[in-house]
Amino acid sequence: MTNTELKKKWFEHFKSSPSQLKKMSEVKGLISAFNANIDAVIKISGKKIEEIISKNEFDEAAILLDGEKNIKTVEDAFRGLVKCFKSGIAEEWLIEQKPVFDWLNKNIGYDNLQMGGQGGIVANAMAVCGVENVYVHTASSPKEQSKLFLDLDNLKNVNPLGELQKACTIDRTEDVPLIHWIIEFDKDDTLKINGETFTCPKSNRFIATYDPLNFRLAIDDAFDKRMSDPSTSFEYIILSGYQMLSNELPNGDSGINRINDSINKVRNWRENNPDSILHLEIASTQDKIIRKYLVDKLAKEVDSIGFNERELIDILEVIGEEKLAEICNKETNSSNLFKGMLKVFNYIKCPRMQLHMFGLYVTLQKKGYQLSPIQNRKGMQLAANVAASKAGTGDINSFDILLWSKDKEVSDIGLNELKSLSETVSQKFGTNNLIEDGIFTDDSVEIIAVPTIIIDKPITLVGMGDTISSISLVGAQ
Ligand code: GLC
Repeated sequence: MTNTELKKKWFEHFKSSPSQLKKMSEVKGLISAFNANIDAVIKISGKKIEEIISKNEFDEAAILLDGEKNIKTVEDAFRGLVKCFKSGIAEEWLIEQKPVFDWLNKNIGYDNLQMGGQGGIVANAMAVCGVENVYVHTASSPKEQSKLFLDLDNLKNVNPLGELQKACTIDRTEDVPLIHWIIEFDKDDTLKINGETFTCPKSNRFIATYDPLNFRLAIDDAFDKRMSDPSTSFEYIILSGYQMLSNELPNGDSGINRINDSINKVRNWRENNPDSILHLEIASTQDKIIRKYLVDKLAKEVDSIGFNERELIDILEVIGEEKLAEICNKETNSSNLFKGMLKVFNYIKCPRMQLHMFGLYVTLQKKGYQLSPIQNRKGMQLAANVAASKAGTGDINSFDILLWSKDKEVSDIGLNELKSLSETVSQKFGTNNLIEDGIFTDDSVEIIAVPTIIIDKPITLVGMGDTISSISLVGAQ
C-alpha cells in the first residue's frame, strides 16, 4: 500500500476518537501524583541567545563544551540551552542555587505561566477529558500555582483540613511558588556562537528547574491521608515526579528513602482500590543511582510505564544495555527503539509499556493484559488527536478543542517509522499487519502501534509526553 492509501486507512481507524473521549467520563476516579509546578514558558530565538551571551560576555568556547548536566552558574544554563538548540533535543537541568534562578528570572523572563510538572499536566488533561474525579497532589499550593489548574469542579486537591476542594481555589499563602523555566526554540532558526553557526534541526525545549520541594519528592500529609481513606475510590493512579530526585539530598535524606516512602504510601492508597491500574511516567532522570533504583524497584511494582525515546535510552544505560543504548542514540528510529523496549520488557517484567516517539506510539504488553489491543489502539489514537490539538492550538484547556485535529491525516514520518517497526517485528516474532492494523499478537505479547499526526509548526511541545501517556491509558476503554 502507498502512504496515501495508508493515510486513508488510518483516517478510518481514528474515527473512533470522539466516542473514546466520551467514554473517559465513565471513569470515576484518578489520582495524579506527585509533581505539579509553575512552568514559565518562553520562546527564544537564536538572535536573542546571541545577544544575551555577548551582553554578559560569557565564555563562548566554554558554552560549547560538554559537561555535567546541571546548572551551577548562569553560564551552565546557556551551555544546556545551546546544546539542545544545536541538536534539536529536549533536556531538563536542575538549578542548584537560588541566585542563578533569580538571574534568569530577571534577565530572560517569560512569555506566560502555565501548569507544569507531569502530575499537574496529567491532572488538567484528565479533568478536561471528563474523568469524574481527578485528585491531584501538590507539594506546594500558593495561589499563583493553584490558579493554573483548570477551573473545573471535577479537578480536586486536598486542603490542609483534609477536605477535598476544587484545585484551582486552594490558597496556601505560606507555600513557595515552584518555578521551572521552559525555554523553547524553533526548527531552522540559527545561532552563531564562537564563530560557528548552528541551525536548529527540530523544534524543542530546554528546561531549567529550581524546585526545592519536588527535588526531594515532598508529599503532602493531608493528601496522603485522604487518598488512603476508604471513602476515596479510583480506577487509576498516575505517578510521576521522581526524575528530579538525587540520591544525596541537601537535607541529608536520601533519594532512595524518598522513593521507598512514596511506595509505602501508594500501597496504602491502593488497599481500598486493589483493582486500580498503577502507571509510572518514568521521565528523564539524571541521577543514575535513582534511575537504577526506579527501574529495579518502583517500575517492578507498577502495571504500566510510559517513556519517550530519550527516557528509554536512559533506562537501557542502567540495565547493562549500554551498547544498544549507544545504537539507539546514534540512530533513534522505531526499529532500534523497539529492540530496546524488548530488553526493558524482559528486565523489568512490567506487564505494559508505552513508548511515545516522534511520529509513532508503541505499546508492548503481556498477552491478555486487562486492556485489549484494540482498546489500546483506540486510546492511542485519541491521544494522538489530543496531542496534535495541543500542538496546533497551544493548549487543551477546554473540551471543545480536544478534537481540533480530527480531520487531519497521520504523518509520513509516522508511517515510515511504522514500516520499520513492522519489519523488526517480522524478524523477531513473524509476519504481521502492523502497517495497516497497528496490532500484532502471539502467545506471549501484544504489540500496538499508532502513527501520529505531526503539526509542522507546533505552538507548544511541553507536557506532550504526559498528555499522550495518560490519554492513551485512560482513553483505552
Ligand atoms: C518536567 C518539567 C516541568 C514540565 C514537565 C513537562 O517535569 O520539570 O516543568 O512541565 O516536565 O513534562
